[in-house]
Amino acid sequence: MNTPKQRITVLGSTGSVGVSTLDVISRHPERFEVFALSASTKVDELLAQCARFSPRYAVMASAPHAALLAEKIEQNNLKTTVLSGGDAIEKIASHEEVDAVMAAIVGAAGLGPCLAAARAGKRLLLANKEALVVGGELFMRTVREGGATLLPIDSEHSAIFQSLPEDPSTWPRRIDKIILTASGGPFRTRAPDTLGTVTPEQACAHPNWVMGRKISVDSATMMNKALEVIEARHLFGVLPEQIEVVIHPQSVVHSMVQFTDASVIAQLGTPDMRVPIAVGLAWPERIESGAARLDFRRMASLSFDAPDAALFPGLGLAWHALRAAPGTTAVLNAANEVAVEAFLDRRLRFDRIHAVNMETLETVSPSKPASLADLLALDASARAAANAAALRFAA
Ligand SMILES: NC(=O)c1ccc[n+]([C@@H]2O[C@H](COP(=O)([O-])OP(=O)(O)OC[C@H]3O[C@@H](n4cnc5c(N)ncnc54)[C@H](OP(=O)(O)O)[C@@H]3O)[C@@H](O)[C@H]2O)c1
Repeated sequence: MNTPKQRITVLGSTGSVGVSTLDVISRHPERFEVFALSASTKVDELLAQCARFSPRYAVMASAPHAALLAEKIEQNNLKTTVLSGGDAIEKIASHEEVDAVMAAIVGAAGLGPCLAAARAGKRLLLANKEALVVGGELFMRTVREGGATLLPIDSEHSAIFQSLPEDPSTWPRRIDKIILTASGGPFRTRAPDTLGTVTPEQACAHPNWVMGRKISVDSATMMNKALEVIEARHLFGVLPEQIEVVIHPQSVVHSMVQFTDASVIAQLGTPDMRVPIAVGLAWPERIESGAARLDFRRMASLSFDAPDAALFPGLGLAWHALRAAPGTTAVLNAANEVAVEAFLDRRLRFDRIHAVNMETLETVSPSKPASLADLLALDASARAAANAAALRFAA
């Protein structure tokens, strides 16, 4: 008997993870069918994806971009229906005919669609770490109550997920520690006092991974790892003190779990996002990802080191935010999104991203956000404070 194809919505399909997802999907036309795609600004890229994958829906975040796409879809005689706006993105994330949703929008903008997919009980492939950092307990509760299956796509969390037993109810008594690996980014060997002159081009030139601009800057500051610590705490139900970060410049060991008997299980592979994406798409089966294989005979060395707190001051904010009042991780995320954008726009020096994050954490006090509306309000006030801080630190 033929298994029906999984119908997939790819949110953020024009981004780095979105494109890699479509690459894996295209290798398995007998298993997967693209139901819907979404993007924000890249009209021509989304048009080309519509021509190739014939989705039922294509959504642009704004009405003007959607109008442009609709015109081109018509000129090219394509059948895809074009929609626009946040509600439409939530609609394709929760549509009754969708089996799985790849959440690959960048930033807190992905929270609403992720919650919609979780409420609708979808198989949710979560790349959008900011959504979980902002949504925290509310996000995890929605996943549980909606009966959704949450599959981490961040390579580190996919590694941990693959290293753990399949039954999550056994995790608390088995996990001693989660060890997240970090490449250290492009400035791992720099002196902290030389970071003031770093340009966006230098910060986005990651030594091992090809990624979107925001996550590339986060990798250079190691705020990416801070967000991943917060993500791991929620995904695996561990305490902040059970999470450790080690620098591993080769990006071969993607993360590890130390169990209560002191045994450690790690997951290894080449640094290619198509691997965790293929894991998420097929889990618990395994499918071809297109990634190169590791060749252990040619591997010179694997090294591990402690992160330098003077070079990466943002990393410690993860534990600070997790131990502070509920909602503090949402404040940290908003501050960091604003600071990174200001840096990419050349309005803020690279070494002042941390100062903006610190000042925002000091000025905004969260009051136990209990709903999406509360979180969005908190996100907005943190962004206002961070914008003010970014202006001051730019001077
Ligand atoms: N790249 C990686 O290797 C990697 C690894 C692990 C986790 N992640 C996580 O995965 C997520 C995506 O990362 P990425 O590197 O693929 O980012 P990216 O290349 O910047 O792509 C982001 C995608 O989101 C869309 N988008 C941006 N702002 C939006 C908004 N306000 N509303 C709706 N859509 C919006 C973009 O549309 P346009 O392109 O049309 O503007 C694009 O399709 C991030 O949360 C990141 O932390 C990425």
